[in-house]
Formats: sequence, C-alpha cells, structure tokens
Amino acid sequence: MAREFTRVGVVGLGTMGAGIVEVFARNGVDVVAVEISPDALARGRATLARSTDRAVARGRLAGAERDALHARVDFQVGLDALHAVDLVVEAVPERLDLKRRIFAELDRICRPDTILATNTSSLGVTDIAVATGRPQQVVGLHFFNPAPVMKLVEVVRTVVTAADVVDDVEALCTRLGKVGVTIDDRAGFIANALLFGYLNQAVSLFEARHVTREDLDAAMTLGCGLPMGPLALLDLIGLDTAYEILNTMYRHGGRNRRHAPAPLIRQMVTAGLLGRKTGRGFYTYDKPGSAQVVPDPATPTAVDDAPGTTAVTRVGVVGSGTTAADLAAVFAAAGHQVVVVGADGPAGTAGAVRTALDEGVTRDDPDPSGRDAALARITWADALEQLADVDLVLEATAGEPDTTRTLFARLDEVCKPGVVLATTTSTLPVIELAMATRRPADVLGLHFCTPVRARTLVEVVTTVRTSPEATATARAVCAALGRTTLVCDDRAGFVVDALLFPYLNDAVQMLAAGYAGVDDIDHAMTLGCGYPTGPFALLDAIGLDVALAVQRALYRESREPGLAPAPLLHHLVTAGHLGRAAGRGFREHTGR
Ligand SMILES: NC(=O)c1ccc[n+]([C@@H]2O[C@H](COP(=O)([O-])OP(=O)(O)OC[C@H]3O[C@@H](n4cnc5c(N)ncnc54)[C@H](O)[C@@H]3O)[C@@H](O)[C@H]2O)c1
Repeated sequence: MAREFTRVGVVGLGTMGAGIVEVFARNGVDVVAVEISPDALARGRATLARSTDRAVARGRLAGAERDALHARVDFQVGLDALHAVDLVVEAVPERLDLKRRIFAELDRICRPDTILATNTSSLGVTDIAVATGRPQQVVGLHFFNPAPVMKLVEVVRTVVTAADVVDDVEALCTRLGKVGVTIDDRAGFIANALLFGYLNQAVSLFEARHVTREDLDAAMTLGCGLPMGPLALLDLIGLDTAYEILNTMYRHGGRNRRHAPAPLIRQMVTAGLLGRKTGRGFYTYDKPGSAQVVPDPATPTAVDDAPGTTAVTRVGVVGSGTTAADLAAVFAAAGHQVVVVGADGPAGTAGAVRTALDEGVTRDDPDPSGRDAALARITWADALEQLADVDLVLEATAGEPDTTRTLFARLDEVCKPGVVLATTTSTLPVIELAMATRRPADVLGLHFCTPVRARTLVEVVTTVRTSPEATATARAVCAALGRTTLVCDDRAGFVVDALLFPYLNDAVQMLAAGYAGVDDIDHAMTLGCGYPTGPFALLDAIGLDVALAVQRALYRESREPGLAPAPLLHHLVTAGHLGRAAGRGFREHTGR
C-alpha cells in the first residue's frame, strides 16, 4: 500500500513554490507553506490568491473550492513549522549551497520518516541528498511551470534513493492528477536538458539581432505550434532561474556549449530585468508579477513598409511534391491564377492539390464550389517558358543544389523583369540561387512552415542583395493570404528550423545515451512543456532524412560541435527508417 501523504510542506513560494502549494491544496492535501520573511510570505500568498481567483474567473474552480483550498494552507515564516509534515518540497532559488543548507536544516527539524524532495531543475539531487543524514529519503520532484497546469512531474531518484520512497512519490503524483516519469539524476533531467539549449540559442539569435523579439516568439508559436515563444517563456521562468539552470547544466552536463548561458542573460540578471516577477525582462509588464505585456520602446510600431510593392495576380509554382501542391492550393484558394510546372504535369500534382484543398487549406471556406473554383484557377504546364507572364515564382523542387541553381538561371531567362523569384528551400543558402541569376535583388526565400495548411507563419528570407521592394512585395502577398511574416537573414535554418532541429537532434542524442526512452522523452515535452508533439513523433512525421539534411546544413554553416548531427539519426536514415512515410522511424507505423 502506498504511503498516505496528508500534510506536506513547501519551502519557497516564488514562481514555482506558490504553484506547487496550489497543486497539493487543490487535491485535498494540507500544506505548510514556508518563506524566508514576512514580506516574501505575503508575496507568495498573493501569488496563490491571484492564481486561484483566475481559476474561479475562468470557471475552472468554484468559489467554495477556492476557499476550501486556501483553508488547507498554513503560511509560516521559517523552516521550524515543518516539524510534523510527511513530505517537504523545496523550491528555493537554484543554488546548491542554499539548497544543501536548507536540506541539512530540514533533516534536523523534520520527523525521521519525512521524505525530502527538491524541485531543482538542474542541480544534482545526489549533491543535495548527501547534505542530510537520510539520503535514501531524498528525491527530485520536478514540477513544470505553471505547476497547476502542466501535467508532468519528473521524479528523480539517486543511486541511494529507496525504492519504496520512489513508489510512494509516484503514487502521490497520480493522486495529484500528474504524470510522473521516473528518471536518474542527471543535469537538466529530460525536459530542461532539451528545453534550455533551445531557449539559450533563441537568446543568442536575438542578441545577434538576427530577428526581433516579437518575430522570434511568433516564429515558434505560429511556426511550430508551441504554447509560448522562447523569450516570453524565459520571462515566465525568470531570467535569474534560467541563468542558474543553464550554468549548472553547462558545468555538470559535459560543458555542452548549447548550455553556456548567452551573455545577454547575465547582463539582464545583473540589471534586475528578471522577467515577469520584476515587471521587466525581454518584455515589459504592467506591474511586477503580472502577465500583461505593455508597450515599451522596443515594441514595433505599425509602419508603412511597402516601398513600391508589385501587384501579384499570377503565381508560378515549380515542383511536384507536397509543398508545391500545398502552395498551389493556398494561392489558388486566395484568388490567384496559378501555373504549376511539375516534372510530371497534372498527373503529379493535381491529386495532391485537390487533397490539400479538401483537407482544409481553405478551412474558412468548406463549400465545395470554393474548392472547384480554386482548382479552375490552376493550370498545369510542363515547361518553364509558361511562367513568362507570372508576377511571382515559388520554387519548391527540393532538388540538388546544382539543379536548383540551374533552375534559377532558367527562371531568370524566361520570367519578365521585376518578378520576385522565391525559393522555399530550407537547406540551401538563398544567395547561391540569387547569384545564379542576373537579378539577385529580386530573389528571396519564402519559407512556409509545414504543414502549410496548419502553420500560418512565413519566413521572408532576405540576402545581402535582396531589394526592399522585393521584400515588401513578398510580405504583402503573404499578408493577403492571411499569413504572418517575419523577415530574417539568409542563414542556415532561418529562425524556425535553426531552433527546432537542434532541439530534435538533442533529443536523439539523449535517446542514444540511454538516459530515457522515446515515450518518456515525448511525454516530457508534451506534458511538461505543453508542446503539441514530442520530438520523436515530430521527427517521424517530418522524416528523419529531412531532419538529417537540415541538421547537416546547420552544422556546416556554424561548425558548432553541439550541432553535429546525432550518429543515431544518421544510422536510422542509412537503415531506411525514415519515419512515418516509410512505415518505421523511431516508432513502427502500421496502416499508413
Ligand atoms: N521558474 C521555473 O520555471 C522553474 C520550473 C521548474 C523548476 N524550477 C526550480 O524551482 C526552484 C525555485 O525556482 P523559482 O523560479 O520558483 O524561484 P523564485 O526566485 O521565483 O522563488 C524562490 C523563492 O524562494 C524563497 N526563499 C529563498 N530562500 C529561502 C529560505 N531560506 N527559506 C524559504 N524560502 C526561501 C524566495 O523568497 C523566493 O520566494 C529552483 O530550484 C528552480 O530551478 C523553476
């Protein structure tokens, strides 16, 4: 029989602790909530009140339940109040010396059978456990932010944690409505080891002025379906906490440069720009602790950035794969005349275009007559010459670099002057295609995030030669399709892929290291971080060969050791385990 936890303690009522108190109290467990000072206690109490009031306002909690929840919480200053609890969860700042001191104190104060848990994100649970005389009763209980919402709890066992303690804590997670994933003690555990490399890289892109903060966050929410952009998430986590987590993972997780904190994070921490909790981080908030973003000097103003856009009515699409079909469908559905030049004429693309239209490219217009009208706006051609009078060309051939360069040279010959020549490539530098023409100012990248029908983001990739007019035309065309654009430089992966694929590659490295399995890693990201798909489900959907090609391009350009493609990815591609379309990738796929 699992142990009954009727009274627990929570130490530190900051970003995480207040949420953890709420989780316990909501599930009928009495809580002694401890802070270091009366002021900090008042802040923690206010955080809990704000969160529960919000839940009532949103109809997720009845008023009487809120009152009962608060009645279960005993707010106290000082650890001595924890002498009679069954379990303590510590959630003080991410500093080993501080946590060790608190655990030594707890060991002295608490009953001998009390289980001591830390919510550390990156410190060794073992290092904390050995500060007590009961290391067999010490575990990691890593909740995710916001604790009342996120389903996952990583249960971290050390080499000395007793098996029955792990069992009891797992059962408790279930009682709290959480999914507990039990793992060994390793820097960053599962989710943070994958999340923080990505967050840190996002800060570096921002710091290098590759992309604005709003565009960066839009890239990952609209381009990948993540619940929050990386900079908004860092503001939620707290820059000080993020810095400590990265620093610890770097120092204790093999000195992986992906975890070496970006200099900007340190500067912001020093300047007191800690995120929501201080009212200012990457964004500015209406007051400390608020989630409400207010305009600041960095907020983009609506500017008329259309220096002489060219009207686009006729669009050429070159290619015969899924992307070409999706693009033809999107443009035709929006009222453009579309000429598709594919290797195998209508036979290759017509069916796929129809499917794309049927599957909801025209989600807002389910009427079949809309689909038929869109189809009627498409003509199929077998020669590039038929693009002589289009206003915009989209290349979606996914061909070899030489073939694509030759194609752009040919487009230069057949297309009328002033036409924007766009590539949808995700692996080839756009400038190479631009320089294959005599009109590099008119060449840019239009990277539609896939699946095209579900993701509304388009990256407009400008080279050092792209003209402002071509950029403005491309943005105007995408805006008319109802798509959000971000403008970024011509560097490998642009924004979305540059951040997404290294994270996927990190997940493969973690799997190969034997730390956790496919399901646990996928769960960590979906249930812990709210991602729509886990990394392995996503890799199987994208195709492992595609992922390998993108990762290689990223590595080739940056030479960052941390971006080297995972050998396991390479091996699976060599073995033909390419993902869902091949019937097998990281998982078996039947009935495709
Ligand atoms: N912020 C996140 O998104 C997140 C997510 C998961 C885990 N964590 C982990 O949770 C822990 C807490 O992080 P946080 O972001 O909530 O930090 P925080 O700075 O928001 O809160 C820490 C709280 O601990 C209190 N405190 C400090 N010393 C204390 C003491 N001696 N006794 C009692 N209280 C004390 C502080 O007053 C503060 O309220 C860290 O280990 C962090 O790695 C954070």
